[in-house]
Amino acid sequence: MGIAGRLLPLLLLFIPAALREHLSPVIDDHRPDHQDDVVLHPIVLVPGLTCSELEVRLTDAYHPSLPRCGAMKGEGWFGLWANCSDISTHHYPPCFMEQMSLVYDPIADDYRNIAGVETRVPNFGSSKGFQKNPPLIDCRDWCFEVLRKELEKVGYVDGDTMFGAPYDLRHAPPVPGQKSAVFSTYFRRLSRLIEDASRSKNNQKVILFGHSLGGMVALEFVRSTAMAWREKYIKHLLLVAPLPAEGFVASLQNFVSGSGLLYVPGVDTLALTLRPMWRTFESSIANFPSPAVFGTGKPVVITGDRNYTACEMEELIADVGYVAGVEPFRRRAVPKMNYFEAPMVPTTCINGVGNDTLEQLVYWDGDFDAEPEVVYGDGDQEINLVSMLAFDDKMRQETKQNRVYKSIKIHGARHGTIITEDWALKRVMQEILEANRI
Ligand SMILES: *[C@@H]1O[C@H](CO)[C@@H](O)[C@H](O)[C@H]1NC(C)=O
Ligand SMILES: *[C@@H]1O[C@H](CO)[C@@H](O)[C@H](O)[C@H]1NC(C)=O
Ligand SMILES: *[C@@H]1O[C@H](CO)[C@@H](O)[C@H](O)[C@H]1NC(C)=O
Repeated sequence: MGIAGRLLPLLLLFIPAALREHLSPVIDDHRPDHQDDVVLHPIVLVPGLTCSELEVRLTDAYHPSLPRCGAMKGEGWFGLWANCSDISTHHYPPCFMEQMSLVYDPIADDYRNIAGVETRVPNFGSSKGFQKNPPLIDCRDWCFEVLRKELEKVGYVDGDTMFGAPYDLRHAPPVPGQKSAVFSTYFRRLSRLIEDASRSKNNQKVILFGHSLGGMVALEFVRSTAMAWREKYIKHLLLVAPLPAEGFVASLQNFVSGSGLLYVPGVDTLALTLRPMWRTFESSIANFPSPAVFGTGKPVVITGDRNYTACEMEELIADVGYVAGVEPFRRRAVPKMNYFEAPMVPTTCINGVGNDTLEQLVYWDGDFDAEPEVVYGDGDQEINLVSMLAFDDKMRQETKQNRVYKSIKIHGARHGTIITEDWALKRVMQEILEANRI
């Protein structure tokens, strides 16, 4: 870059913000490390499911099932899903499961903690406040470690132009008309974060970036805001491998056979052990395959006795032994599947495709504790291609949205590593810079 290139950022400081945007030189895509001459819009990062920490406080109303789980009663806040190595070190897995579990309240039609357990998500606002110490190296990277470093290279600064918005991973974002005490609070905090970020940068609009469950959260957040607010504050919505309302089959396996996503080192048969806790989460049932996309003919779960199509998820929930999940599924998850409104802000959706992705689960002898045989189809290893395409379709049917919608499929990129592997991350970064430019 020549002298002019180096002087430009300085010169731009003296030009009003509105003009500055027009004068910013076009970025040379071949030199991603030299983009210091771009005026960066603030960016807010919403991470995937495992990345947000959770703190807990136990009050007198807490009646632990094991005496040692009550040891922290009255001792104030402590990390519950914070440093997963600690959970086993302190012989805490059963207590962890009990204190993490949610209860569905049919009168409020909402989820809450068990009695005497108060929770909060720490580090709101910081892009450095996500899980730092999961023992799985991959898992840490998914929590934006790698992405954040790339953003720093192009000039983003934590707390100045770059922010993080962790959330309570157990809950699922509501669609308009649904109540969610936890997400109402979160959405209020997120709108304030975006307003503040914008105000401190000459009222520039903000880029909202979500990965995986964070993509679903970001999308629902935008849809929950007033149109005038969106137009004033949202520069671009960037969804990377967002969990689709259209559903995906891997979420069924997590529910039926258990999930190792909340990795706790030192716990045997992790998925099965944590399964009772996992099933209480609203996020565990929020992305079941929808009838509209997965059809009424081809079953998604096969057993010797009976098969289950996407229309028979209530029966499946009951048959795997979690009857308590039927009502919240019907009242909270099904309306999410059936709801669609375009966010009506410039949106880019980036997905991996071309990797083996669960399409059918086979439990021949009906033993849901056993590993299923699986039939694979196309997707990003988690999300089925059909769901991605259904989302694209809905976005394109809305003419005004279609004009500001871009869908990118990266062949061979996988659900988690799409934001960690150099070659895929480059593409994601390119879109972030593009969103700054347009
Ligand atoms: C997490 O817990 C382990 C085991 O107790 C400890 O060695 C490690 O330092 C902790 N890490 C952080 C970041 O607190
Ligand atoms: C379940 O589906 C499989 C594969 O589509 C089929 O072979 C089988 O006959 C079905 N079983 C029942 C009980 O309908
Ligand atoms: C994912 O896709 C890439 C590109 O097609 C391929 O090289 C890789 O082996 C695939 N991985 C899996 C697990 O399917």
